[in-house]
Amino acid sequence: MVKARKIVLARRFQGEPRPEDFRVEEEELPPLKDGQILAEAVYFSVDPFQRSMGGTEKYGQKVGDTMMAAQVARIVESRAAGFPVGQHIVAYWGWRDRTVADVGPDVPTPAVMSPPMLVSDLGDLPLSLSLGVLGMPGISGYFPLLEVCQPKAGEVVVVTGAAGAVGSIVGQIALIKGCTVIGFAGSDAKVKWLKEELGFHHAFNYKTTDVSTALKQAAPDGVDVYFDNVAGDMSTKVISHMRYRGRITVIGAISQYNESQSQKLVTVPITFAANQLRIVGCSYTRWHDRWDEGITQLQQWEKEGKLKYRETVSHGFANTPKAFIGMLRGENFGKAVVKL
Ligand SMILES: NC(=O)c1ccc[n+]([C@@H]2O[C@H](COP(=O)([O-])OP(=O)(O)OC[C@H]3O[C@@H](n4cnc5c(N)ncnc54)[C@H](OP(=O)(O)O)[C@@H]3O)[C@@H](O)[C@H]2O)c1
Repeated sequence: MVKARKIVLARRFQGEPRPEDFRVEEEELPPLKDGQILAEAVYFSVDPFQRSMGGTEKYGQKVGDTMMAAQVARIVESRAAGFPVGQHIVAYWGWRDRTVADVGPDVPTPAVMSPPMLVSDLGDLPLSLSLGVLGMPGISGYFPLLEVCQPKAGEVVVVTGAAGAVGSIVGQIALIKGCTVIGFAGSDAKVKWLKEELGFHHAFNYKTTDVSTALKQAAPDGVDVYFDNVAGDMSTKVISHMRYRGRITVIGAISQYNESQSQKLVTVPITFAANQLRIVGCSYTRWHDRWDEGITQLQQWEKEGKLKYRETVSHGFANTPKAFIGMLRGENFGKAVVKL
C-alpha cells in the first residue's frame, strides 16, 4: 500500500500567509487503473498565484484541500501509454509527495492551469528549470513580452518584480532584443545582481528609491514598454512615464495579494488617450499551444549564454510553507522551488 503526504490549506489566508495556515496530512493511494500513473515529486514550485488564488473558492481551493501548486515528479509506475516509468512530468497536483493521476490529452484541467506535461530533454540542466525558466515562468515572460509588447531595438523597457522568476527572464529577453532595460526590485543585493550579472542598464531598489525620480533619470524621454508584475502605486508611477504608443502588459499584481480589500480600478489617466497607450492583461495559458516553441527558444538562449537563470532552492517537504512565505516576502532571487 502506497501512502502520500500532502500539505493542505488549514484555514483561509488573512493578509500574509502564516505557517499555521497549513497542515500536513497523509493518505493511502489507490491501486493504478488503466490510463493512470504513480509519480513521486522531486521539486515543488512555490508561486505567487498560490496566494492570489489559494484559499479562494472561486478557483476551487477550499479549506482542507491540498495546496494548489505545480510540481515536477518522476513516474514510478505507469498504466498509461506514452508516460513511461523513469520519465519526469510537470503537473498541477499540488504540494503532495506521491500522486496517482489520470494522464493524457483527454484529462480535464482547470482553465487557469496547464495539463500534465512530460519534461523534454534538459541535457545537463537541473530538472527544477522545468518549473522556472524552461517552464511556466519562462512562457509567462516570453510570449507576453514579445507578442503583446513587441519591444523594438532602442526602445526603453521597464520591468517590476525584476529579480524574480518572470521578471529576470523578461529583462534579459528585452536585452537580447536590443532594448534599454530598467528593473525595479526590493533589495540592493537584487539591484546589484540585475546590473552586474544580468546586464540591466539600470536597476533600482523600489523600497529606497522613488520610482518617478528613478525614471526621470534613467528614461528622460519616457518608457515604451512596461511589463507589470506588481500593480499598485509602483505601476501607477511607471505608467505616468509612458511615451506615445507605449505598450503595457499586466501579468501580475503581487503588491495587492495580501490586501484584504481588492484594489479599486481607478480612473484611467488621460495619458492613455493622449499617448494612445495599449494595456493588455495576460495569462500564460493563452500560449499553451505554442509551449514547445517558447521553451526551445529560451533553452537556445540559455545554451548561448544570453539567458542566465538563478534559483532559490529550499530543502525538504516540511519547509515548503516557509519557502512560499519567504518568496512572497521577496527572499528569492529568480525562481523559488523546494527540493524534496
Ligand atoms: N499571468 C500569468 O500567467 C502569470 C504567470 C506567472 C506569474 N505571474 C505573476 O507575475 C508576478 C511575478 O511572479 P513570479 O513567479 O516571477 O514571482 P517572483 O517575482 O519570483 O517572486 C515574487 C516577488 O514579488 C516581489 N514582491 C513581493 N511583494 C511585493 C510588493 N508589495 N511590491 C512589489 N514587489 C513585491 C518580491 O520581490 P522584491 O524583493 O523585488 O519585492 C518577490 O521576490 C506575480 O505577480 C505573479 O502573480 C502571472
